[in-house]
Amino acid sequence: MAKQRIKKIAVLTGGGDCPGLNAVIRAVTKTAINRHKLDVWGVEDGYEGLIEDRIHPLSYNDVSNILTVGGTILGSSNTSNPFSYPVQSGKRVVNKDVSDDCIQNLEKRGIEALVCIGGDGTMCSAAAFAKKGLTIMGVPKTIDNDIWGTDITFGFNTAVTTATEAIDKVHTTASSHHRVMIVEVMGRYAGWIALHAGTAGGSDVILIPEIPYELDKIADFVRARSKKGKRFSIITVAEGAKPKGGKQVIFKKIKNSPDPVRLGGISFVLAEQIGQMTGLSCRAVNLGHVQRGGSPTPIDRVLGTNFGYHALELLMKGRVNRLVVWKDGKLDDVPLSRIAGKIKTVRKNDPLVAAAKAVGTSFGV
Ligand code: F6P
Repeated sequence: MAKQRIKKIAVLTGGGDCPGLNAVIRAVTKTAINRHKLDVWGVEDGYEGLIEDRIHPLSYNDVSNILTVGGTILGSSNTSNPFSYPVQSGKRVVNKDVSDDCIQNLEKRGIEALVCIGGDGTMCSAAAFAKKGLTIMGVPKTIDNDIWGTDITFGFNTAVTTATEAIDKVHTTASSHHRVMIVEVMGRYAGWIALHAGTAGGSDVILIPEIPYELDKIADFVRARSKKGKRFSIITVAEGAKPKGGKQVIFKKIKNSPDPVRLGGISFVLAEQIGQMTGLSCRAVNLGHVQRGGSPTPIDRVLGTNFGYHALELLMKGRVNRLVVWKDGKLDDVPLSRIAGKIKTVRKNDPLVAAAKAVGTSFGV
C-alpha cells in the first residue's frame, strides 16, 4: 500500500505517437481531477521534457475535446533516454545518466507519481525510474501491438483500419493493370499489423518477420494465380519481414534512440525481385507514418479511456510500478520490471495465421 495519499501526479507520452494517446491523457486527467481531486501536470515531449524541465499544469479544460484527436497534446520524443542522454562535455558529446535531474524536476513541484504512456523503450526507462524509487504507472501504447504482457495496445486498431483501407484501394488499381501490388506496413519486429490488415484486406500473400519467406515460393504463388486467370495479386509485407537466412531492410539508424534501427523499404526490394522473377508488372507502396495518424477508432478510444482510468485507480490503491494491460478479455496489470526488454511477436501457430492459410493466403513458405 502507498504510505500516504498521493496529491500531485504528472503524465507523459513517450516514443512514437499513435492514435488514442489523447484519450488516455484525458482519462488520466479527468479521473484524477473528478474522482481523486488531484493536481495534474503534463510533461512536454516525453522524457525530453522531463530532462529539460518542461512540465506544466494540466487543467480540466486542457483535456476537453481531445478524445477524437490523433497524436498527443503533450508531444512525444523517441530519442531521449534519461539513463543515457547526450550532453556536451568540453568539445565532446558524452552520454550521461540524467535520471536524478528528472526526479528532482518532479520533486521540486511536489509531484509524487508519474504516469508513463509509451511503448517498450518508454517502459524500460519507466522500470528503471521505479527501481530508483519514483512511483510509476505504465500505460501501453503502440500501433505495433508488440508490448509483452498485454493482448492489445491502443493505436493498433486504428493503424490496422488505415492499412486495411489502403489495401482495399490498391485492389482496384492492381486489378485494372493486372499488377502485383506490394503494400508495406509498419510494426518493427512484429507482424501484427501485416497479419491483421493483410487478412482484413484479403491479401493473397502476407509476409511477417516471424515467418521468414522464400522468394521462390512467392513468385510461384503469384505466377500460379496469374495462370488461373487471377491477373493481379496483393502482397502485404511487414517492414520487419525478411527472407529465410537473410536480413531485414534497414532504412536508417538514429543515434540516441532506445532502438536506433528504423526499418523500411522491403516492399521496393520485393517489387524488383518478383518483377524480375515472374515478368509481371509490380509496384510497391510504403504506408509509413500515415498508419500513426488520424482520429482513433472507437475501439482505441474505449481502450485508451479504460487504460487511463484503470491506471489512476491502481495508483490511488497503491498498486504501483505496474503496467495496465488488457488480458483475456479484461483489464489487468503486470509489474513493470517483468515486461522491460521483452516484445510480443506473432506465434507461428497464432489462430489468425491458421485462418488466413485456410482461406488460401500464402505466407511465402
Ligand atoms: O513503434 C511505432 C513505429 O511506427 C514502428 O512501427 C516504426 O518502425 C517506427 O515507429 C518508426 O519510427 P520513427 O517515427 O522514428 O520513424
